[in-house]
Amino acid sequence: MGIESEAEEQQMTEETGKLLAQFETEKSGLIPILQSVQNTFGYLPEAAMRQVADHLGMTDVQIYGVASFYNHFRFTPLGRHPVQMCMGTACHMVGGGLVLEALERSLDIQVGGITEDKEFSLDRVACVGCCGLAPVMMIGDKIYPKMTSTKVDEAMVNLKMEMEEKSD
Ligand code: FES
Repeated sequence: MGIESEAEEQQMTEETGKLLAQFETEKSGLIPILQSVQNTFGYLPEAAMRQVADHLGMTDVQIYGVASFYNHFRFTPLGRHPVQMCMGTACHMVGGGLVLEALERSLDIQVGGITEDKEFSLDRVACVGCCGLAPVMMIGDKIYPKMTSTKVDEAMVNLKMEMEEKSD
């Protein structure tokens, strides 16, 4: 059983079935299928991976092995506020890795994970197109320029305060 509820899993099964009907059963179609599943759900749900395996005549382990080879596939849902750390060359060169580590500590999750309250997920991404502002962090659509590890906690506290204000 995955992290989805039974009703969610059933809905995913139906949607994945419709999606798979558009693809041949050739193993070479695996990557496009996985991309399509992730575009639909925002991640690769366990149940959908099993269906993909059945569709292509492969094992779950083989599917997982291929998917986990690529950084851009994720196995947990996105949080309500997806946090993305750019790890393109420009951001990497000016300390993006340290900011990413600070984010892991601050959110208490690893890259590819989601917080228990499902508010935040954390991913590393390739260049987001504003290298002059490196290192760049994004939360949802908002860009946080010239990030440092010390700015991470401040950004998270401010965001949580904004969230509380909105919920009042
Ligand atoms: S490398 Fe980070 S914005 Fe281009």
